[in-house]
Amino acid sequence: MGTRARRATHHRAHLRLRHRHLLLLLPLLLLLLLPPLSALLLRRANSLGRRCLPPAAGRRPLAGQRLSFSIVTLSDEGLSGRGVRGRSFRGVLAATARNKRAYAAAHGYGLAALPHGAVDPRRPPAWSKVLALRARLRRHHWLFWNDADTLVTNPDIALEEILFSVIGHSDFDASPDLILTEDINGVNAGLFFIRRSKWSERFLDTWWNHTSFVQFGSTKSGDNAALKHIVDHLSPEETQAHVRIAKMQCLFNSYPWVATWKSVHRLIFHPSTTWKGAYSDGDFMVHFAGLNDKRGWTSRILREMTH
Ligand SMILES: *[C@@H]1O[C@H](CO)[C@@H](O)[C@H](O)[C@H]1NC(C)=O
Repeated sequence: MGTRARRATHHRAHLRLRHRHLLLLLPLLLLLLLPPLSALLLRRANSLGRRCLPPAAGRRPLAGQRLSFSIVTLSDEGLSGRGVRGRSFRGVLAATARNKRAYAAAHGYGLAALPHGAVDPRRPPAWSKVLALRARLRRHHWLFWNDADTLVTNPDIALEEILFSVIGHSDFDASPDLILTEDINGVNAGLFFIRRSKWSERFLDTWWNHTSFVQFGSTKSGDNAALKHIVDHLSPEETQAHVRIAKMQCLFNSYPWVATWKSVHRLIFHPSTTWKGAYSDGDFMVHFAGLNDKRGWTSRILREMTH
């Protein structure tokens, strides 16, 4: 072999090696780009064609009698700083309660903020939603429970529109009693509607009675697991008559999509669940479920809303 030929062979081998490097780099590059790109796209899900609330034509609010609604949430006093370690609720309650107060006032809804005294000290504070709702169930047609780490991000949307889009008619007496959303873990207890009825009273009593689910000392308090257990064990007939789960989680319970390994994994293996629930501009509500820096998230979203 001449010198030139040897050099050419050497060159080809070198190129092959470089190609192989590129082939290895490409998936790595994609893997690195996937999280920020996904965050960018999911945040724009609604402008990319996602529909959380059916288009305006179908958006008739519940007609006839004007129904009475109340948002029920935690008050901004007393509870501050009682959150689980690592999960800062300090400063979150005041900001989210202000946001709910403004929304309720604009639409003529009631707002009940659970006072410190209403929290049963024998259980993690999250359980007190059951008592708070039970105590107020007879005063309004519908109660809308809001965990403290939630914000109304599109105050133009009315609760009547949300309910109409799930129920499909505006006959209060023929309505189901419990309106939920579902995330990757099943039904979520952070935001839901409950109707004034005997069924709802019994349902809340049953929920409160699921004492074996009460959990201390972790980020989970057990109220959500108990709710999921009850809903999962209803007969199909009872579910059909009393429970509705919104088709789109983003109808009233969107979670910000944060680029962690867990969420990338979920995006790859459960793309449709991620798509239905990721917080995007225009969504009705955001819920900082599972996020640690709730205060940071609250002020970031509130800042974005005023711009
Ligand atoms: C809940 O528990 C209380 C006290 O044990 C009991 O009196 C009540 O009947 C229970 N209610 C339901 C709906 O399970």
